[in-house]
Amino acid sequence: MLAMDHFAVRMREEAMMRERGEEISYLALATLPSAPFWARTQTKTALKARSMPSELIDAAELLVSELVTNAIQISGPVPGQVPASGLDGVERITITLRLIPGRILIEVFDNNHNPPVLADADSDAESGRGLMLVQALSKEWGHIFHPSGGKTVYCTIAAPETALAPGHG
Ligand SMILES: Nc1ncnc2c1ncn2[C@@H]1O[C@H](COP(=O)(O)OP(=O)(O)OP(=O)(O)O)[C@@H](O)[C@H]1O
Ligand SMILES: [Mg+2]
Repeated sequence: MLAMDHFAVRMREEAMMRERGEEISYLALATLPSAPFWARTQTKTALKARSMPSELIDAAELLVSELVTNAIQISGPVPGQVPASGLDGVERITITLRLIPGRILIEVFDNNHNPPVLADADSDAESGRGLMLVQALSKEWGHIFHPSGGKTVYCTIAAPETALAPGHG
C-alpha cells in the first residue's frame, strides 16, 4: 500500500512536470540595478549547461534582461529617491527557466499588480521598446496574476527537442 502511494505521488509529480516543464534554473533577486546582470549570467550558465546553441542563449539573455528590467522598474525603489534605509522599496523578483518540449519558458515574477502593456507599434517614443522586442523574439508571451499577490510575465523561445542533461554537453 505504501509502495502504491509512493508510485502514485511520483506519477502525479511527473505529470505536473510534463505540464509545466522541467525547471532548469531558478533565481531570486532583489529589485536593484544589478538584477539584470545576474539574471543574464544565470541564464547563460543554465542554458550552456544544456548545450543550447549560442543564438538561442543570446536571445534568452535579451528576453530575460528586458523582463527583469521591467520588473525592477515597476517594483523596485524609485530611481533618484534617497532611501531612508538601505533596503527601502526593495522587493523580491524571481526568474525561472523551464524546458518544455521544443521550447524554453522564461518566467519573471514580481510583486506589482499592474499588467505589462505593449506599446503602440507606430509610436516613435523613446521607451516602450522592451515588450516589442519580447513580442518579436519570442514565440508567445503573456502574464498571469497569482491569487496570493504579484504576477508572472512569461515568454517562450524555440529550443532543440533533444536538450541534454547538465554535464553531457
Ligand atoms: N512587469 C511589469 N509590471 C507592470 N507593468 C509593466 C511590467 N512590464 C512592463 N510594464 C508596463 O508596460 C510598459 C511597456 O514596457 P516596455 O518594456 O515595452 O517599455 P518600457 O520599459 O517603458 O521602456 P523600454 O523597455 O523601451 O526601456 C511599461 O512602461 C510599464 O508601464
Ligand atoms: Mg522595458
